Amino acid sequence: KESDVRVYNTIDSTNTEAKRLLNSEELSNFTILVSDEQTAGRGRRGKSFTSPKGTGVYFSIIFFPKDNFSYNSFDLVTIKAAVSIVKAIEKTTDKKPEIKWVNDIFLNHRKICGILTEADIDFESKKVRSIVTGIGINFTTEFTGELSPIAGSLLAEDLLRSQLVAEVINEFYKSLYCRSDEEILEEYKSHSLLLGRYVNFELNGVKYEAIAKDINEKGNLIVETDDGNIMTLSSGEVSVRGQ
Ligand code: BTN
Repeated sequence: KESDVRVYNTIDSTNTEAKRLLNSEELSNFTILVSDEQTAGRGRRGKSFTSPKGTGVYFSIIFFPKDNFSYNSFDLVTIKAAVSIVKAIEKTTDKKPEIKWVNDIFLNHRKICGILTEADIDFESKKVRSIVTGIGINFTTEFTGELSPIAGSLLAEDLLRSQLVAEVINEFYKSLYCRSDEEILEEYKSHSLLLGRYVNFELNGVKYEAIAKDINEKGNLIVETDDGNIMTLSSGEVSVRGQ
């Protein structure tokens, strides 16, 4: 089946809608759900994602990985999405966004975009039945309350949202089906906000401070503490020291 685009004025969450559709009908590979507003937008770690009308664009891409897709390469999907978003923003604006490992896009120290990748996995066969990559991009800074100091925006009045979304989708498709993982990781690293900087993180209840050294082929962050210990982080929140 051909790719399919569905547009909503409002929806609870495009990722939630994707799950509902996956359970109720046969979808095309690369089905795209785009909404102007989400009433129950979801972020990572069970957090909510504020998604009001007129301030951003919220979309999900549904795709069906090939049989040889390793379920360990899951983190790479989000990395591919992050690179696609950065490339699309650079193509359509004069802005220079950065990526905060693993999946936040920043502009001028403010988060302008979040990515939530979810998969339907058959744990017995370790096969991934479907993947939903949800992307939310903020366009204005009119956030109130606790979000105002951290959420940023593209502030591009003349930028067509549809143009940006189309570019992201285009780049994401290419990164999944046409480009090598090595090439994408290089681009990811060259846009990284963390590499070469001191970061703070917590592992098994212990707080650490270390320099972010590299991102490996699985998309894990390699850090080195002042006493020379090398650690590999596969997920979790990392913050830049002093921020
Ligand atoms: C995060 O920053 O923790 C991830 C946010 C992901 C938000 C997008 S918006 C489109 C899609 N639908 C959702 O409910 N969440 C994702």
